[in-house]
Amino acid sequence: MSCVQATSKENPKVEALPSSLDANRMPAHIAVIMDGNGRWAQAKGLPRMMGHRAGVEALKRTLRLCSDWGIGSLTAYAFSTENWSRPGDEVNFLMTLFERVLQRELDSLEKEQVKIRFWGDLTALPKRLQSLIDEATDRTSNNKGIHFNVCTNYGGRRELVLAAQKLADRSLKGDLDPALIDENIFASELLTAGEVDPDLLIRTSGERRISNFLLWQLAYAEIHVTDVLWPDFDANALTQALVDFQSRSRRFGGLEPIAPAEQI
Ligand code: IPE
Ligand code: IPE
Ligand code: MG
Repeated sequence: MSCVQATSKENPKVEALPSSLDANRMPAHIAVIMDGNGRWAQAKGLPRMMGHRAGVEALKRTLRLCSDWGIGSLTAYAFSTENWSRPGDEVNFLMTLFERVLQRELDSLEKEQVKIRFWGDLTALPKRLQSLIDEATDRTSNNKGIHFNVCTNYGGRRELVLAAQKLADRSLKGDLDPALIDENIFASELLTAGEVDPDLLIRTSGERRISNFLLWQLAYAEIHVTDVLWPDFDANALTQALVDFQSRSRRFGGLEPIAPAEQI
């Protein structure tokens, strides 16, 4: 893989786009199911928690690469509504990890123009994490760089149910005629309102399922499954996912491939 290091005064370590990729056919939005942390650790004889720690490094790497390669949005599945069913120790470890990482990384996220948002039922998270999330969302809300969406206590079904409740509420109040509810109005009540749908879904560790992730938004995403375990996900693995993406013929139900510029 030819990842030439480009340098500039403002950002000395911008990773250039690999020559195997076409800059005009990059996805606008990548969603990633970061799976395999536990197996990565177990394979090394380490406790699962070490896998989660290494997973954070993989996420930082991926965010930087996506930003350098001109991808508009990266959405990462960090904790699902089903992950509460894991042992308490692991859940507590993850919550503390999210807190520490956010605290540690916030200054540089802010400086690097990342706009961070958290999607999910945040009210169930520890209070300290909630206030950090508020602070991070606030401090980066006017940033002009990559959108970094972290799905935390996120479930696609819960998101859809909440959207339905909000629409029902508006209808009851007489603000909305139910007959007028269409896909755009429905989407405007989702957590992802205003964001383009993911073009590419990456799932690591070989599992071929969606696990309640972005059920509405992934309607026409291209799916790339890799056996790479999330902590090992790097520039090479991301390049492979993008090469795979660029080899697809996206027809959106029609007969002719639709070019990225026409998809909007
Ligand atoms: C993904 O890795 C991280 C979270 C779901 C929080 P896993 O913890 O699911 O790792 P495996 O699938 O057990 O290897
Ligand atoms: C999906 O991974 C959720 C996240 C990556 C946060 P899981 O490991 O929880 O998914 P399943 O249980 O294998 O479907
Ligand atoms: Mg897993």
